[in-house]
Amino acid sequence: MKLIITGGAGFIGSNFIYYQLKHHPEDEFVCLDKLTYAGNLSSLKGVMEQPNFKFVRGDIADRDFVCSLFKREKPDIIVNFAAESHVDRSILEPELFLKTNVIGTGVLMDACRKYGIKRYHQVSTDEVYGDLPLDRPDLFFTETTPLHTSSPYSASKASADLLVLAYHRTYGLPVTISRCSNNYGPYHFPEKLIPLMIINALHDKALPVYGDGVNVRDWLYVEDHCSAIDLIIREGHEGEVYNVGGHNEKSNLDVVKIILKALGKSEDLITFVKDRPGHDRRYAIDPTKIHNELGWLPQTKFVNGIAKTIEWYLDNKDWWQEIISGEYQKYYEKMYKNRI
Ligand code: NAD
Ligand code: TYD
Repeated sequence: MKLIITGGAGFIGSNFIYYQLKHHPEDEFVCLDKLTYAGNLSSLKGVMEQPNFKFVRGDIADRDFVCSLFKREKPDIIVNFAAESHVDRSILEPELFLKTNVIGTGVLMDACRKYGIKRYHQVSTDEVYGDLPLDRPDLFFTETTPLHTSSPYSASKASADLLVLAYHRTYGLPVTISRCSNNYGPYHFPEKLIPLMIINALHDKALPVYGDGVNVRDWLYVEDHCSAIDLIIREGHEGEVYNVGGHNEKSNLDVVKIILKALGKSEDLITFVKDRPGHDRRYAIDPTKIHNELGWLPQTKFVNGIAKTIEWYLDNKDWWQEIISGEYQKYYEKMYKNRI
């Protein structure tokens, strides 16, 4: 089988490529990535020379380019990770999110219809469900929870999900969707909470916690997300949505304190800053469906996953030092200077 993996130079996509090459060496893989600020070829260094792997640079929203790629490669499965993925950036610049996350998804599915595929898989997020109240720990997102988005990012992801389901119903396109909770692990871009806090702590810089820090995220080690998508694309049922999460809810403040403790740094580095507009309070996934239907269970507990992640950032300073030395500095300045 041949898979096109879009957004494979990003955080989850690159982890997924390593996972696929390890577990399915008989398959062929084409990574399609625009290499935006979030895409790093250095994340794919370990697979670039593999004979069954190919990297192609391009934009999923570029119809001519996508069609010529499909015509040439004749893929069986598309896994779409490509997206603008950072909520804070979506608040500053929503339009780019519509172009990549909505139009790009539509272009990919049109190419699937035109050239024929066995499966189109959309990598979505629990953020499409909006948020849950902090005082109702009994509530969780299920696949039937209404979509109720808060940010331009989540609205663009929800729009794409609706388009994917419409292409299934109207054109019979064989699609699946996964909606996963927050991931963490190797190759996570430094603008996101966990890598940002690890890197700032290593530099003894202030750790900017938004608002009161009690917002809750449901953390999943990235490899567990990869195993879930792998199961869905190979054994999941067409037209279905699967929630993915491992009941690992933690407040932001708790996550930051765990990182500081692991690095032997003082909690005095914690700095409460102006809150994110529209900040979702709590995400929590009910993964019963994927467990019952496909037998999926996460393998990595948070305590082990965060230790492995911190170790990875300590062992791979070259990877993130290169990233934070360029444009990232300007982003950081713009995003945080008026917050403190
Ligand atoms: P990321 O920002 O690290 O990577 C995105 C990748 O997509 C980058 O390599 C970038 O270059 C590429 N890309 C962006 N625009 C493109 C375009 N127009 N054409 C081709 N490539 C383009 O994101 P991530 O955290 O790895 O997330 C991957 C997917 O998983 C996204 O769809 C996101 O919505 C979803 N998701 C992420 C999380 C999370 O915690 N990070 C959780 C659930 C779902
Ligand atoms: P983030 O990693 O951006 O993921 P998402 O918003 O998609 O969940 O943020 C995770 C949580 O951490 C979220 O509640 C916002 C908070 N946060 C901070 O408190 N400070 C920061 O500097 C960042 C980037 C995030």
